[in-house]
Amino acid sequence: MSRIATLEIEGKKYEFPIIEGTENEIAIDIKTLRGVTGGVTTIDPGYKNTGACESAITFLNGEEGILRYRGYSIEDLAEKADFLEVCYLLIFGELPSKEELDKFHADIKEQSHVDEDVKKIIDGFPKAAHPMGVLSSLTSALVAFNPTSVNVDSEEEMYNAIVRILGKFPVLTAWAYRKRAGLPLDYGDNSLGYVENILKMMFKKPTDEYVANPIVKDALDKLLILHADHEQNCSTSTVRIVGSSNAGLFVSISAGINALWGPLHGGANQAVIEMLEAIKEDGGDTKKFMAKAKDKSDPFRLMGFGHRVYKNFDPRAKIIKVAADELLAELGIDDPILEIAKGLEKEALEDQYFVDRKLYPNVDFYSGIIYRALGIPTEMFTPMFALGRLPGWIAQWREMRLRKEPIGRPRQVYIGETLRDFKSVEKR
Ligand code: SDX
Repeated sequence: MSRIATLEIEGKKYEFPIIEGTENEIAIDIKTLRGVTGGVTTIDPGYKNTGACESAITFLNGEEGILRYRGYSIEDLAEKADFLEVCYLLIFGELPSKEELDKFHADIKEQSHVDEDVKKIIDGFPKAAHPMGVLSSLTSALVAFNPTSVNVDSEEEMYNAIVRILGKFPVLTAWAYRKRAGLPLDYGDNSLGYVENILKMMFKKPTDEYVANPIVKDALDKLLILHADHEQNCSTSTVRIVGSSNAGLFVSISAGINALWGPLHGGANQAVIEMLEAIKEDGGDTKKFMAKAKDKSDPFRLMGFGHRVYKNFDPRAKIIKVAADELLAELGIDDPILEIAKGLEKEALEDQYFVDRKLYPNVDFYSGIIYRALGIPTEMFTPMFALGRLPGWIAQWREMRLRKEPIGRPRQVYIGETLRDFKSVEKR
């Protein structure tokens, strides 16, 4: 039965098809709206009610706290998969066979060299530069060193660009960290696993051998999986709209890095720890910060709380909270910040303001606790989010290009001056 939506505008009725997804989500297809109504459009700041695309990559159900990558639950993947498998799954749609995964990893390792001249670009940054700015600049700069990865139209050309960025991005992330830490910019060790190599590239001291603690490797692997994709969030929508102009993969991802940096988005993981440290410095008075978060005259928000989609709980936050407890116990770390976080969560979940607005801890609320335990400095938290989100950005960009989606170009409602005559400066 074809389902339709009827819209009545000034006495005239218009019908639009209703489409239904595989998870029974329905949407009004308004592709013809402007044409059939003679110019009527819709407006929806922040796209809170507007779908930008049909996608087969990630499914979220905010009311039930469901997150699935290509149909696999986040709980299953976090428990049973490794990050490189999840990269393959998100990008190509299926869990890889051993041969497929080995070839994928080999192709990525083949491309893990970053041109030595990129180090000259890093040298130009002040040591105190935020690593997100360094990372987005270096990711764009990759175009200059990999010109064949720009105009990629065939699946083979896209694959080559994909394994290039998966090989080089962890190096750039490690270099952004090492630049601030005053460490030499080294390369990885292709005999290691993908995530083990990331740890070595970041933490290997020039004077010592580095062998990743398996507990640390597993915790980072899980954290990267939990951050890998999240359907049409701000940074992913940025990657898709930049890529919709046929801009290349690397510059589309660079744009996504910049969108992720915002404290309302991925930058929240750094802001959460800074907030928890401020609460600790202030004597641990969470009530004072809760009051600030509810005070409309105060721009302060409880960082790591609330979500555009999850109006129940963020399943990733639940997994990360358990993982944080386990990791700190296994590493014998007693981090007072974790107890403050738990106290704040308990208080917020019992506070009417938060309950009424369905504000729950999101992925960023506990992730910083794990990053700290892994020895990752606060300013590197959002770059680690970007490292996790890379396969999602790639998968969404690839899907958009293979589906030949039109260039993104939203409309507006003009509310400025109507036509007026120019006045010479003498008459103003
Ligand atoms: C990520 O989209 C994704 O999927 C993102 C992400 C991903 O994986 O890609 O999940 C990652 O970005 C997680 C979110 C990280 N950001 C934060 O933790 C920052 C704090 N959170 C808020 O800024 C806010 O909750 C957002 C930005 C996350 C969501 O904002 P919305 O959906 O636009 O909701 P809103 O701003 O309209 O808030 C609704 C109400 C408002 O109050 P009223 O005007 O109704 O009285 O809730 C209030 C807001 O003031 N509110 C908060 C709050 N979040 C919302 N009040 C205090 N503290 C907060 N954190």
